[in-house]
Amino acid sequence: MRKSIVVANWKMHGSTDHIKSYVSDLHTKYDSDVITDVDLVFCPPTAYLQSLNLELASNEVSGANHCVLDNCKIGGQDLSHYVSDGAYTGEVSGRMLSDLGCQYVIIGHSERRQYFGENDNLVAEKFIAAIKSGLTPIFCVGENKAERERGETLSVVKRQLQEVLDLACGDDLLNSVIAYEPIWAIGTGLTATPEQASQVHRYIRDLLPNKGISIPVIYGGSVKPENAKELFSEVDIDGALVGGASLNAGSFLSIAASIK
Ligand code: G3H
Repeated sequence: MRKSIVVANWKMHGSTDHIKSYVSDLHTKYDSDVITDVDLVFCPPTAYLQSLNLELASNEVSGANHCVLDNCKIGGQDLSHYVSDGAYTGEVSGRMLSDLGCQYVIIGHSERRQYFGENDNLVAEKFIAAIKSGLTPIFCVGENKAERERGETLSVVKRQLQEVLDLACGDDLLNSVIAYEPIWAIGTGLTATPEQASQVHRYIRDLLPNKGISIPVIYGGSVKPENAKELFSEVDIDGALVGGASLNAGSFLSIAASIK
């Protein structure tokens, strides 16, 4: 049985005030009868990890509907491929993320690959650094529009995954999540159809050791409350990596509530 997981990637958004009102909304809108057996992972900018973690753990929220956010976890949006402390200005290590309370970290998001020059090799090193730090990597793969139009989707995904498969041992992969995010669907309002996403998810699973039987494969790319249910009706889609819609607690909870 695979774990269902819905990840909020806030990207470079947020503020102290936003965190307070967001968590207050979570406390009042979260319905543990509706959202069951789903891990909710919040990935704010690194600067806000600690305040979000403290806010999530706080029981000081006023209001009749306050509930305990048991299955809410936090994660980083990136980490250094350097594992040991050292003179690496600006870097944040996996150990530091763990120290701040993170259980997860996003690795190889297409925006890291596109704007920060991260290649398949660096991304694979970050995957290993995450595992060594006791974090669960949420490893992102996905093709751009031109690659899809040329019919290269599966070969691109295979190439992106291959470096990790080469560097990691089987047990490393067991504690990971794979996120399929077609770049043409990120922040564009275009979503892969459930069939398009499912085809790639099945392909990814086939590449993983033991057919990835216990590894969650989640989908990202303009997931919203309106399309989540249809996507989650596919057996190979175990959750979502949500960008824009995750900035609103109500929308994010509604997506999580759509998990079968
Ligand atoms: O990490 C999240 C993805 O990039 C999807 O972003 O939901 O805004 O399309 P989006």
